[in-house]
Amino acid sequence: MTYVLMKVLESAPSRYEKGIQLLTRGSIDAAYDFLAAHIAPEQKVLDIGCGTGALTLRAAAAGAHVVGVDINPEMLAIARAQAESRGLAAQVDLRELGVAELDGEADASYDVVMSGLCFSELSPDERRYALQQAHRLLRPAGLLLIADETPPSDWPRKLLHGLIRIPLAILTYVLTQTTTGAVSQLPELVQMAGFSIRQVHSNRLHDFTALVAEKS
Ligand SMILES: C[S@@+](CC[C@H](N)C(=O)[O-])C[C@H]1O[C@@H](n2cnc3c(N)ncnc32)[C@H](O)[C@@H]1O
Repeated sequence: MTYVLMKVLESAPSRYEKGIQLLTRGSIDAAYDFLAAHIAPEQKVLDIGCGTGALTLRAAAAGAHVVGVDINPEMLAIARAQAESRGLAAQVDLRELGVAELDGEADASYDVVMSGLCFSELSPDERRYALQQAHRLLRPAGLLLIADETPPSDWPRKLLHGLIRIPLAILTYVLTQTTTGAVSQLPELVQMAGFSIRQVHSNRLHDFTALVAEKS
């Protein structure tokens, strides 16, 4: 429920990674390690909303060739610097590009499409569009890897989630004039876009989901 504060962190990209690790008490790393374990050497991977490169750099370290797209040039600059300092620059192609511009990429040109904490920054229409594009861009049986904030499904957790999240969302809006929305029915959206769900993991509070799906 504190994921909504990531918008505040994005306004200071140099502090983003430390901040998100504090907010998620390190659980983001475990979720991203789990997703990155599905990536093999030499695969072609697209990271939607790559930010400072948390998933991009994991995929590159696994030997993949990664295209990372993001609309925030400051986040991309940090991702670029990190790729260079870790000796991964040759495997990483970082582009200032939004979800709406993914239609310029060729059909079936990726083995894996992934996205961490970006869908919660998209409108419902953009989420559906991003999933359609992911389906088009993946080769047959290609993998979709997503980790993001999702609303809990049971009422006690829903109530707790709302009580904590709503004041934080207001604070975020006051500070950044933007906010995020937990992604409702993520597995259903993914299935509607033509994927078969392989694995879904939720955290203890059921407000964060990591999902692996395959292009059917
Ligand atoms: C919370 S950050 C997560 C960054 C990175 N994936 C990570 O996990 O560290 C969300 C990122 O999504 C990007 N983003 C938001 N809307 C986007 C859009 N329409 N197209 C591309 N990137 C977008 C933001 O600029 C930001 O860098």
